[in-house]
Amino acid sequence: MNQDQLNRRAEAAEAAVREAGALALDFYRRRGDLKIDSKGLQDVVSQADHDCESLIEAFLAREFPEDSLLGEEGGLRQNGPTLWVVDPIDGTSNFLRGVAHWCVSLGIVVDGRALVGFIYDPAADEMFSAVAGRGAALNGEPIRVSGETDIRRARIGLGFSYRTAVAPHARDVETLLDAGCEYLRLGSGALGLAYTACGRLDGYWERHINLWDVAGGLVIVEEAGGRISDFMTRDVATTGNEILAATPALFDPLRSLVDKA
Ligand code: IPD
Repeated sequence: MNQDQLNRRAEAAEAAVREAGALALDFYRRRGDLKIDSKGLQDVVSQADHDCESLIEAFLAREFPEDSLLGEEGGLRQNGPTLWVVDPIDGTSNFLRGVAHWCVSLGIVVDGRALVGFIYDPAADEMFSAVAGRGAALNGEPIRVSGETDIRRARIGLGFSYRTAVAPHARDVETLLDAGCEYLRLGSGALGLAYTACGRLDGYWERHINLWDVAGGLVIVEEAGGRISDFMTRDVATTGNEILAATPALFDPLRSLVDKA
């Protein structure tokens, strides 16, 4: 894909994410009316997720009908090799409970590499963005990962879902706290990566997460100077993977801690 094709997609992706974010915010303000469906243990969904994904799907069909789409709710709509990966609402449980920590996440993957990322938090009106090779931004202003080098001053985001066993997560918590590393569990993997990219967190760790949760954040963290584990394995769209993102100095120490846990 040449630069012009990538630029056009990045522009369109930002517009799509903003539109989906506005729709999601409208649903959020009247979330009491939404019927909540269960997809599994502590895994919920509502019309808001479906409609926001449909909005992005329609946008893509209009602007780039040759591209493919992988969405959390609708799965894969296979066309050409350029893949738009969408989580229409990441942090759905927060969203439905009225906790204003959720976002729309979109990544564009070409040849197995995430090249464009947008994460939009409509409640805070914060747009995190990056295009490979061009740096990362928050509302248009450049962002960097924190300069933290000491695990004993670090605060990382942790994620957990019942897709994995409880015990390793519980051990992670103990191992990190024993090492003097604080953690937050905020309930949106995408925002965990965005917060790592802008230095609000010094890293993010989750033992299993799906591609749609992180496709927007991978390039944002990298372009903000962070290090990220090798997420994009061949089958990642169907299997998901673990994710570790951190400041360059904290990546190896965190890796050793979670490997030991
Ligand atoms: C979930 C959130 C959560 C993470 C889970 C994800 P969803 O996504 O990102 O923080 O721990 O692994 O499934 O269901 O809110 O889109």
